Amino acid sequence: MYKNLKLGLKLNLLLAIILLLLVITMGFILSRVLQNYAEQEIVNRASMLMATMNSIRNYTSTQVNPELSARLETEQIFLPQTVPAYSAREVFENLRSQEQYSQFFYKEATLNPTNVRDKADQFEAEIIQSFRNSSIEQQQGFRSIPGGKIFYIAHPLKVEKESCLRCHSIPNLAPASLVASYGSDNGFGWKLNEIVGAQIISVPSSQVINAAKKLRNLVISKVLIFLLLASILLNLFLKLTITEPLKKMSDASKQLSLGNMETEFEQKTNDEIGILAASLNRLKVSLKMAMEMLENQ
Ligand code: HEC
Repeated sequence: MYKNLKLGLKLNLLLAIILLLLVITMGFILSRVLQNYAEQEIVNRASMLMATMNSIRNYTSTQVNPELSARLETEQIFLPQTVPAYSAREVFENLRSQEQYSQFFYKEATLNPTNVRDKADQFEAEIIQSFRNSSIEQQQGFRSIPGGKIFYIAHPLKVEKESCLRCHSIPNLAPASLVASYGSDNGFGWKLNEIVGAQIISVPSSQVINAAKKLRNLVISKVLIFLLLASILLNLFLKLTITEPLKKMSDASKQLSLGNMETEFEQKTNDEIGILAASLNRLKVSLKMAMEMLENQ
């Protein structure tokens, strides 16, 4: 069957196969590379936010707390601004109020929190439990929530200082204002070196991954357009330099075989096709001479 195909068709079959293989391998490689890149990007975002949150906590305990702690003993109402967990949470809420960060989450998920908004849900409780069972310092992974896929990073929250116990062990030790504001039921009974919760940051990943997919499709379509243009050029080249001259020569040979000795093989170039035309012309001259000799005899 292949024997019966025209040159142009053969070329285009070959081009189609090359194109198909190229698109498949390129799509596959691009998918892998961009997916890795996107995931790395998401991890970087989350890590940076986590580091920022810890800086805020640090700032609160080293600069804000010393300024305000005396007032905790005298004020009627507790000043949450003295607490790192509070400032981190507030700063993050501020960030989240901007549209583009509304899908980012920060939580100091705690099994027995002072502020009930920090109460760990089931997923978070499992993370805390696994921190308690092992000595790992970080957990991360993807998780599907109703808004899309998110990536989370979690660090254990450990009671490392004796001073924490003033407000988190028994209500009697805590400033009266704390008990007045938060009650005496939650956030007490913590032990030194106990892992009480997990600091969890979540960043949306669907957007980044979708952007990577879009980029892949864009690259593939651009390359495809380029290759199609190249195929058109190749077809044109084949037609002008090979198939058309060949067809003319084959028509001319047919004329010659019918006895039309004035037929000319047109030689336009000096490439292989042109050389063939020149040879055919010489052949024609020899043939003509041979015929004349025959006729004279
Ligand atoms: C002066 C009292 C006080 C001290 C000392 C204190 N905390 Fe707290 N802590 C609080 C209050 C009040 C909250 C709730 C803040 C809010 O409204 O978000 C809180 C919240 C937290 C939270 C968030 C979960 C929750 O319970 O709502 C963590 C985690 C936490 N504290 C850990 C610590 C650690 C660790 C230390 C020691 C380095 C410490 N705290 C020292 C008063 C204190």
